[in-house]
Amino acid sequence: MAEELNPENPETEEEETVKQRKNGLYPGVSDELAANMKSGWADTELHGLEPIAQAEHTAARRAALSARFPGERLVIPAGRLKTRSNDTEYAFRASTEYAYLTGDQTQDGVLVLEPTQDGHEATIHLLPRSNRENGEFWLDGQGELWVGRRHSLAEAEQLLGIPAKDVRELPATLVEATGPVRNVRGHDAGIEAALTDKVTAERDEELRVFLSEARLVKDAFEIAELQKACDATARGFEDVVKVLDKAEATSERYIEGTFFLRARIEGNDIGYGSICAAGPHATTLHWVRNDGAVRAGELLLLDAGVETNDLYTADVTRTLPINGTFTPLQRKIYDAVYEAQEAGISAVKPGADYRDFHDAAQRVLAEKLVEWGLLGDLSVDKVLELGLQRRWTLHGTGHMLGMDVHDCAAARTETYVNGTLEPGVCLTVEPGLYFQTDDLTVPEEYRGIGVRIEDDILVTEDGNRNLSDKLPRRSDEVEAWMAQLKG
Ligand code: GLY
Ligand code: MN
Ligand code: MN
Repeated sequence: MAEELNPENPETEEEETVKQRKNGLYPGVSDELAANMKSGWADTELHGLEPIAQAEHTAARRAALSARFPGERLVIPAGRLKTRSNDTEYAFRASTEYAYLTGDQTQDGVLVLEPTQDGHEATIHLLPRSNRENGEFWLDGQGELWVGRRHSLAEAEQLLGIPAKDVRELPATLVEATGPVRNVRGHDAGIEAALTDKVTAERDEELRVFLSEARLVKDAFEIAELQKACDATARGFEDVVKVLDKAEATSERYIEGTFFLRARIEGNDIGYGSICAAGPHATTLHWVRNDGAVRAGELLLLDAGVETNDLYTADVTRTLPINGTFTPLQRKIYDAVYEAQEAGISAVKPGADYRDFHDAAQRVLAEKLVEWGLLGDLSVDKVLELGLQRRWTLHGTGHMLGMDVHDCAAARTETYVNGTLEPGVCLTVEPGLYFQTDDLTVPEEYRGIGVRIEDDILVTEDGNRNLSDKLPRRSDEVEAWMAQLKG
């Protein structure tokens, strides 16, 4: 199934009917066939469409952006397809900035905010329905008979609440445009080429930073999406527990595939590469090869999140005894991480420094490591001052969460790690302890054990809410939950 137009040479006269892929099985399109394909199709235009659920929210987000950059043209692309090989592409995922401001996820889309006297006028630039006159709809690799029906521009306007235009005309318009422009870089090389004389890296970065910081506090739609992501993720973890015996017979791949199935059934995708780390693999922080053995008696560290259809992701970790019961040493280490997580979650509340949850969790972990004799006779304060616990805790205790798993990453230090928590902020609390297999400074029985517990915590008016609390965390509750699921 591969007979579309050659996209590399679309300007030639024969382009409309006879251009063929090299090694295509059909030699060309006869005039009769070309004529035949033009007609006999029903009008499928949709009318009276209701706006998407988040239309009011995306309008408010665009208004905040408009207020920050008065008098400037703002260009926010969705991004283009990335080639995997030849005419095969990687799955498309719209840029976070574009989806946040429009609620749309269409490849090649571009949101433009044109400055006006009293703000901005937003226009969304999209590929229209495929042309049926020139055969594009069935002969072009991105024609609708190959990749699926698109919304017409009129339909997109109704759904998104934003006037829509043909994106193919945008680059020429941008080349001609005068006045200050800013562009979100890294998504669309064609748009960047059109704007190359008009933008600066510094000013574009200010736009990116603003859009990152705008997402620090989630609106009601976003909070509902994050809850949905966490609920679906909890069901994905249950799916995994139910097939642990099958995973033992195959490998970590079975766990990865099982969780992915849930992500596709309930959402758009996984929000990041699932970490399905059994046994000593749990000591590798981002173990995504997922090709190892799953053995009874060892632990499974599963760090995975469902991304919703509107692109909000959960980020949850549970460390599970593969045979359903922790050994005494596994439990000792697990319970220490649990205690650290409890201390971290308790520190998440409005008015707290962002860093407080990290400091609280690290203190508990340092206390445990000192108590277990792994740090000689150093005091906990000294350990923390020197950061020596980090040999086994390795990473920060959490991060912002939203459309990106590491959300708001471009926010300034003063608004993020040096910032203050307020209602609507959502972050992960995810302490861990990791004893590498070749760590000669710990007793041999510790080596190869890795434990992380990660939950998604929303700051509320009076404290916090654990969005991922449908999954148990305490060691005895984890065991009871697993026993019940394995039935
Ligand atoms: N899943 C990556 C992280 O927890 O940050
Ligand atoms: Mn995380
Ligand atoms: Mn994680």
